[in-house]
Amino acid sequence: MLKILTIFGTRPEAIKMAPLIKELQNHPGCFDCRVAVTAQHRQMLDQVLDLFGIVPRHDLNIMQPGQSLFDITRRALAGLEQVLSAEQPDLVLVHGDTTTTFTGALAAFYRRIPVGHVEAGLRTGNKFSPFPEEINRHLTGVLADIHFAPTAAARANLLREGVAEKDIFVTGNTVIDALLATVRREFAFTDPVLSNIDYARQRVLLVTTHRRENLGEPMREIYLALRQVVQDYPDVTVIFPVHKNPAVRQVVREVLGEAPRVHLIEPLDYQPFVNLMQRSYLVLTDSGGLQEEAPALGKPVLVLRDTTERPEAVEAGTVRLVGTVREAVLTETRRLLDDPVHYRRMAEAVNPYGDGQACRRIAAAIAWHFDLAEAPPDEFSPR
Ligand code: UD1
Ligand code: UDP
Repeated sequence: MLKILTIFGTRPEAIKMAPLIKELQNHPGCFDCRVAVTAQHRQMLDQVLDLFGIVPRHDLNIMQPGQSLFDITRRALAGLEQVLSAEQPDLVLVHGDTTTTFTGALAAFYRRIPVGHVEAGLRTGNKFSPFPEEINRHLTGVLADIHFAPTAAARANLLREGVAEKDIFVTGNTVIDALLATVRREFAFTDPVLSNIDYARQRVLLVTTHRRENLGEPMREIYLALRQVVQDYPDVTVIFPVHKNPAVRQVVREVLGEAPRVHLIEPLDYQPFVNLMQRSYLVLTDSGGLQEEAPALGKPVLVLRDTTERPEAVEAGTVRLVGTVREAVLTETRRLLDDPVHYRRMAEAVNPYGDGQACRRIAAAIAWHFDLAEAPPDEFSPR
């Protein structure tokens, strides 16, 4: 039996690891799967743990208001030293590109424990964008022994960096597994803000922002563009679940606090969030995960960043990289509101990131890697 310790700490890691934990737990004769959270996020992590019924065996509870990268790294590393000593797992699984991800991989390496990296190989090639995620993901890749690349392009990045082909598995992204298990046509919102919107008459712009490199002026520019949009289009409503980061909240309130038909709400639970995305007209975001989810639901996405490590949906035409300059955000949003042909072209549902089978493939790849299976898993390829 293989003892696997999954380590994560933020909302998106939890969402993307939850279906994998369930999958590993479905093979009790093969895997003993345990969970350690750094709780780099607190409330936003707990929302996900509650929804998926995950009870961590270890909770480092490291989050502090306004924490720095040094705070997270230091506190997570110290806590993980103890956890790894106590558990001594055969494999550590980390996900993505957060500081918890990198620290989890580093701690496992210091203990000479093999590392599996879920969502491996995404790159922008720009050290400072996204910051610090590009380098977190890169460093985690250097430390990892098994790489679960969501797409063929991610695998190509890893091969270019010298990772051995036999250590890479193209699995699709586990976020699509989570999404397909969560979106419901008949979903009813309990939040009155969401249940009172007339989705047939109002065009909902779903907005999220949190990237460190966008804090301050870039965010102000984005919000000023949104303020102009609601002023110009009476049939547009903005729903903006505001990230808990106080640095985000301050600028959001300043610029959008009084704007009509702009609902600044608390971060939503994953279930209402993705079901709201399903009913939205357009998504504006600097998030990584939303760039993967929205295309699967046929929602155009304007990415409020200068780079993306997820080029597949840009190439497919559902996602556009617009940056953070007010005029550019305004122009692209107007075009999607005014030009139905352009909108329809961008609203094609595409699934370059997964088919809902990523977790099955990852579990099978782990079994293959550790000689517990006779064949490697099939590869994900978009239809
Ligand atoms: C982190 C990740 C980022 C990921 C994002 C997902 C790093 C460096 N950043 O960024 O890669 O895309 O999570 O959302 O790993 N806060 C709360 N409650 C919460 C969560 C956050 O109050 O549940 C506040 C705290 O004041 C905290 C601050 O937000 O100090 C920032 O959190 P942090 O994890 O450092 O950065 P994020 O911007 O959330
Ligand atoms: N999400 C959520 N509630 C919200 C906003 C986002 O559940 O109010 C989910 C979203 O569906 C996606 C993930 O959180 O799966 C994205 O997290 P975030 O944007 O914080 O991080 P990133 O993906 O940029 O690392």
